[in-house]
Amino acid sequence: MNVLDVQDLRVSMDTARGTAHIVNGLDLSVAAGETVAVVGESGSGKSVSVTALLGLLPGHARVSGRAEFDGRDLLAMSEAQLRTVRGNGIGTVFQDPMTSLNPVLTVGRQVGEGLLAHRAVTSKRAARERAAELLADVGLPDPRGTLDRYPHELSGGMRQRVGIAIALAGSPKLLIADEATTALDVTVQAQILELVARLQSEHGTGVVWITHDLGVVAGIADRVLVMYAGRCVEDGSVEEVFSAPAHPYTRGLLGSLPSLRDPGEDLVAIPGTPPPPTDLPPGCVFHPRCPVRGDVRCATEQPPLVPVGRTHRAATFCTTPEVDS
Ligand SMILES: Nc1ncnc2c1ncn2[C@@H]1O[C@H](COP(=O)(O)OP(=O)(O)OP(=O)(O)O)[C@@H](O)[C@H]1O
Ligand SMILES: [Mg+2]
Repeated sequence: MNVLDVQDLRVSMDTARGTAHIVNGLDLSVAAGETVAVVGESGSGKSVSVTALLGLLPGHARVSGRAEFDGRDLLAMSEAQLRTVRGNGIGTVFQDPMTSLNPVLTVGRQVGEGLLAHRAVTSKRAARERAAELLADVGLPDPRGTLDRYPHELSGGMRQRVGIAIALAGSPKLLIADEATTALDVTVQAQILELVARLQSEHGTGVVWITHDLGVVAGIADRVLVMYAGRCVEDGSVEEVFSAPAHPYTRGLLGSLPSLRDPGEDLVAIPGTPPPPTDLPPGCVFHPRCPVRGDVRCATEQPPLVPVGRTHRAATFCTTPEVDS
């Protein structure tokens, strides 16, 4: 059963330079207990996509599509309904935790409130105990002392871990993590990934994990979705996509990856830059940078996302594997 089912998500915004087509028909499903990694270069629309699902985009953003969570369409919900879902059902961790932490409440209050709201505990005292445990779980060195501190008294990495503790406190059905562990050192990161895996096996939490770190993708994800210019250009099981990437863009990203056993390996830089969302090229969005593009078709026709394997899809006219230069 899918925890999240997104169909044809589109986001556009009017800007000084014209209409920005930021997300252009994204499908994304996450089954219970499954981890889907979303990868793609900076600006490909990863954060805007998940922000749209949570109803947190600026008011002038135009959003369309369907996004079923727990049987209800997130994109059709009122602000009040969304607030309930965000606090109870979907846990989120963003790269900048200051945006999700309340500056005037102690850490203990904030973690404890989540626990009480989800009825994980029934008394304030139990909430405090459990909050301290959660802070220890995310690797904070002085969990008890941290309960009485305010967000501004913590380092960036500590705040990030508090944000993760809050997101996990309610044992959400869906966890959306956007570069959640990028700023943390590898041992703390490993500890957090383990904690998320435990949550998944205990509660069947579905996870959307946005990252640039292919070691993390290989280590935690079941499936991977590659985004380019607001589209999914390839998706499939990690095994399928990593062992036989079908899209020239994915092949470029994985191109000089010496070994998936090397944690911390980043996506590779591909020559050129992604097109600005105000000026998307006709045809295949990747064709201006593509090392194997054909002549007319790639420049005029948009390749549909089609099956290339059992659970593997790609949107390209150029699936022959011998690309890497
Ligand atoms: N409020 C906004 N108004 C106009 N354009 C925006 C707005 N927010 C984001 N964009 C544009 O949308 C595109 C996608 O941005 P997004 O933040 O989703 O990228 P991303 O894939 O998360 O990149 P990164 O890996 O750097 O986090 C970018 O071109 C960005 O400039
Ligand atoms: Mg982002």
